[in-house]
Amino acid sequence: MFLLFRIKRALSKKLKADPLRMQHVKNMMKVALRLASINGVDQKKTKIACLLHDLLKLEDPIKLKELIISQFPSIDTEAFPEVTWHALGAKVYAEVVLGVSDQDILNAIMYHTTGRPGMSKLEKIVALADYIEEGRTFVGEEIRKLADEDLDKALYLSMIEITDYLANNNLPISSLTKRALEEYQQLYGGN
Ligand SMILES: [Fe+2]
Ligand SMILES: [Fe+2]
Repeated sequence: MFLLFRIKRALSKKLKADPLRMQHVKNMMKVALRLASINGVDQKKTKIACLLHDLLKLEDPIKLKELIISQFPSIDTEAFPEVTWHALGAKVYAEVVLGVSDQDILNAIMYHTTGRPGMSKLEKIVALADYIEEGRTFVGEEIRKLADEDLDKALYLSMIEITDYLANNNLPISSLTKRALEEYQQLYGGN
């Protein structure tokens, strides 16, 4: 309980200047907790990962870079383009400053933007909830409905939509995302 108190305190401090971002965290946590209960994933772990996933979204880029380089001196920018650094930074902050030691929670925070091959259920839930929460008005109802029925297929569809968007806008696609997609393509035969 003390950890949750410290997390909430850090969150209200870090995201104070951006009520919309705070609302996004609440929205995605609501979705994630529902998906967790459907898929038999621990509610408290889900809550902690959700509260922390965008903790450093507003961090000064120079400070964020320093924090990341301190933990990942030879960061692989093919895997983690700059847009994903808030996720890496939040993982480091959660571990080093807040003392979160659960590897599954830390991975769910770190890979919420990119995904990766071999994701745990918690990682899948956090990544998918991040994409389909009600504030994401560009997301169709089909994928939201599917999320409750088939976590993997919904995540697969979300990854297709995200990578299509990135490709169409000439934005970098993480090598982790490409590999996660390939894993799903093998599972679903490209359908
Ligand atoms: Fe994020
Ligand atoms: Fe997010």
